[in-house]
Amino acid sequence: MNEVIVTGGAGFVGSHLVDSLVKEGIKITVIDNFSNGVMENIKQHEEKIKIIKFDIVNRDWSILDDINPDTIFHLATHPRSFSLQDPIRDAEVNVQGTLNVLEYAKEKKSKVVYTSNSGICGDPQFLPVNEEHPVDCKTPYDANKLVGEYYSKIYYKIHGVYVVIFRLATVYGERQRVNEKLGWRPLIPTFVEKLETGQTPLIQWDGEQTRDLIYVKDVVDCLILGAKSKDHGGEMFLLSTNKETSVNSAFDTVSKITGKKIQPQYATKLPGDLRRMVLSYEKAKKAFGYSPKIDLTEGVTRYVNWYRDHKKHL
Ligand SMILES: NC(=O)c1ccc[n+]([C@@H]2O[C@H](COP(=O)([O-])OP(=O)(O)OC[C@H]3O[C@@H](n4cnc5c(N)ncnc54)[C@H](O)[C@@H]3O)[C@@H](O)[C@H]2O)c1
Repeated sequence: MNEVIVTGGAGFVGSHLVDSLVKEGIKITVIDNFSNGVMENIKQHEEKIKIIKFDIVNRDWSILDDINPDTIFHLATHPRSFSLQDPIRDAEVNVQGTLNVLEYAKEKKSKVVYTSNSGICGDPQFLPVNEEHPVDCKTPYDANKLVGEYYSKIYYKIHGVYVVIFRLATVYGERQRVNEKLGWRPLIPTFVEKLETGQTPLIQWDGEQTRDLIYVKDVVDCLILGAKSKDHGGEMFLLSTNKETSVNSAFDTVSKITGKKIQPQYATKLPGDLRRMVLSYEKAKKAFGYSPKIDLTEGVTRYVNWYRDHKKHL
């Protein structure tokens, strides 16, 4: 891997990926429309990388003619939380945008690493969920991400574009921010923000719903392993920890690490919320030697430290 494009590189996962790729000395172009990403996430690399403000929905990609990426990490996305309010925009970004990425990759003969979402499986029929689990999309976002997976496989089969697909579990870590405008309230940042600002945290449902919480650097390591692989074109992998954590238990961890004790308030279940989720990473382990390294206590500690350093600008 010598030259890459990271779509959505100013976002949460994308910016951590950029950190790791910069360390490897790889030539990087970030394309992002900054709808959810922020320059602050990547400005420390400004001298070393190219940053282009660009909407992947745009049909004209000539702005990227001079770039010759061997790999495209496609992370740009319209957020799940907003997809019910604006399903058309969701389809534009997550389907048409993904097709534009694949078309560009075909022309440039680049590999593609596509980040999809494990929520596509809906309420699990068995646990841990594996790659064979049937799908049951609950939101336009899930449906559009799944269409992106199908297109990725088609471009591999018909056009020979080497695409590796990763369905991510629930990712958390530094730079993940609550974005009220986009209705984006990720679990760990929401709890940290509420507790650190002395507000009552809200738990929707009884808090016994579970998630597979994966630290962002573990995700990034595996995306890079996927990009360096040669024998897994057109395949899909779950990217997870195989650990089931209830929302109540995640709250307790945040409460312990922040040292703030406020009783959460419980409210009605969010539409489409899943009762249980835990995912096997066996397939990624066999293919790439992947296994997660950072546990929840360590990951949340890193998040809280980051939050305290950055809270004035959040
Ligand atoms: N964070 C998670 O828990 C999670 C879980 C499952 C899957 N994923 C997937 O991982 C990837 C990264 O997610 P994230 O959490 O970093 O999200 P994010 O919102 O932080 O990053 C996405 C980036 O894409 C940019 N973007 C949005 N629309 C765009 C467009 N039309 N053109 C160009 N850029 C655009 C945003 O500005 C943002 O910087 C996504 O594909 C997402 O579906 C994330």
